[in-house]
Amino acid sequence: MTSLRIIQITDLHLGATPDSILAGIKPLDSFLAVLDALDQDGHGDDLLLLSGDLSGESSASAYSMLNRILRDRDKNVIWLPGNHDDLSLMEEYLIDYPLRSISEIGSWGILTLDSSQAGTPIGRISDEQLQKVSEGLTQLSGKSILVSMHHCPITLGCQWLDKQRITNSQDLYDLLSPHTNVKAVVTGHVHQQFDGLWGNIPLYTSPSSSIQFKPQSENFSISNQPPAYRWLTLERDGSVNTGVKFLSNFNQHPDTKNTGY
Ligand SMILES: [Fe+2]
Repeated sequence: MTSLRIIQITDLHLGATPDSILAGIKPLDSFLAVLDALDQDGHGDDLLLLSGDLSGESSASAYSMLNRILRDRDKNVIWLPGNHDDLSLMEEYLIDYPLRSISEIGSWGILTLDSSQAGTPIGRISDEQLQKVSEGLTQLSGKSILVSMHHCPITLGCQWLDKQRITNSQDLYDLLSPHTNVKAVVTGHVHQQFDGLWGNIPLYTSPSSSIQFKPQSENFSISNQPPAYRWLTLERDGSVNTGVKFLSNFNQHPDTKNTGY
């Protein structure tokens, strides 16, 4: 394999039924439209990275629907949970996709973390997860590493979402930053794009396959941007090329007056 082509799809917010609605759009339709776009856009999807909030309401039927779609399309998938998910239901109903927190693919390793906490949208990395990161860094010491989790570790200037960032992100940073083979951290949750740095580590957050949040907002605010995904091309030499693609032909439009989700 010359390079590893990953597609990150995040914050699917699938409902319990195919007709479930989120702020005026059907998240199942937008997710399927993203999958269709992958086939047309040509960035390549050796692997899908589903970075949390796969279901918007921890719904078993959403997970089994997702499993069926991914299997029917013959997708290779890594997933991790978000604050709207239920990890035990995911493990039970994503039957063809067992949870993998450490993956080795060619010259790359991928570490996925659970940054969610029960009963709150605020992120935290538990001691157990920090221990797993430590073990993963040892196991993957000869590889370039991509780390992914649901929550963002830093503030982005979107005040209501900034309050939900990982409260103990410094603990994770202190583990990761000495390792120069950690090439990127990729997150979801904020439903908006950020390409920048977390200290010395490249950090990428991504828009959702459903609805987007308005950047630089004090309070909850939905933007009128369409569904999107992030493509990442991981090269053998450890370099990362990445970008975000918004769908150009999705004909459902979010209700930007919604005040919650
Ligand atoms: Fe989330």
